[in-house]
Amino acid sequence: MTLPGYDLNKIRSESLDEAARAASAEAVEAVRLKYLGRKDGLFTKLLQTLPSLAPAERKDVGRLANEAKRALEEALEGKTKFLEGEKLARTLSQGAEDLTLPGTPLARGGLHPLTKVQDEIVAIFQRLGFNVAEGPEVETDFHNFTALNHPPDHPARDAHDTFYLKSHKDETGLPFLLRTHTSPVQIRYMKTHKPPLSIVVPGRVFRHEAVDATHSYVFHQVEGLAVDEGISLADLKGALTLFARELFGAAARVRFRPSYFPFVEPGLEVDISCSFCGEKGCRLCKNSGWVEMLGAGLVHPNVLRGVGLDPDKVSGYAFGIGVERVAMFKYGVDDMRLFFENDLRFLRSLA
Ligand code: DAH
Repeated sequence: MTLPGYDLNKIRSESLDEAARAASAEAVEAVRLKYLGRKDGLFTKLLQTLPSLAPAERKDVGRLANEAKRALEEALEGKTKFLEGEKLARTLSQGAEDLTLPGTPLARGGLHPLTKVQDEIVAIFQRLGFNVAEGPEVETDFHNFTALNHPPDHPARDAHDTFYLKSHKDETGLPFLLRTHTSPVQIRYMKTHKPPLSIVVPGRVFRHEAVDATHSYVFHQVEGLAVDEGISLADLKGALTLFARELFGAAARVRFRPSYFPFVEPGLEVDISCSFCGEKGCRLCKNSGWVEMLGAGLVHPNVLRGVGLDPDKVSGYAFGIGVERVAMFKYGVDDMRLFFENDLRFLRSLA
């Protein structure tokens, strides 16, 4: 079966021979161009001459030509796959890739130890039914001091070494400040929620202090507040005892010492028994068997009155936990600065 100027059988067998001999991707491409190229490919040209045949012949020749063309296409495709497989086998046999090697490890981020300790503290109180509340870091003098029973000129204000935002005044004409404790959130929450209420307030606080092993100008607290009818020191002691046991183990005990904070009466400092030495005395508890961990007390009647509550009807307890203090004790770290330097070797050592 021939077309004028073309020997179809010859083209078919030669093209398949050439495909079989092609030993590289380039050679395969050359065969493809020679026979199947859109402009000059032999099959392309050959098929263009079909209309010159008699109609009866045209059909048979056309079918055979298309079959030959498809056979070549398949042969080229098969050859390409074969060459790719051969190339991969060669690469592997040369040892360029060892598929048994473990992959490159992806470095995962982790939570900062202070975040973990803060989350842990909050979670313990959440299990006791406390809600989580938050407040602004830039505060008014009213919320940070006055409403917490520090009238203007009260000497306790001096103890706070406040950062003032001197050029930004609130509507009373006093400069805004960076909150020195999380206690102002007590006020904000009681102004917007009625008792019974119980909240914990994690957050950053700021004091204009020189940095040393136990002081920083920014640190973290978790404030606690519970207000209801008939709340007493016994409720506070119960909640804090449970807190200490959850955090430091079943043997942990709490101890109250009288202290002074303007917004509570009585005011207390709360110690937790040293879980490192089992109260025998060690470097972390300075040989006393106890570690001061938080301030607390019963909410002062003036504070309750200030937010429109009647101290003859409801009472409350409050506490403030220093997150760095707890973290230092928990991890046995004696320099607070390590938590803020963020040297990965230190952070990883606590993970
Ligand atoms: N706000 C106090 C401070 O930063 C800590 C504190 C003490 C919070 C007693 C309280 C509390 O809620 O009752 O020094």
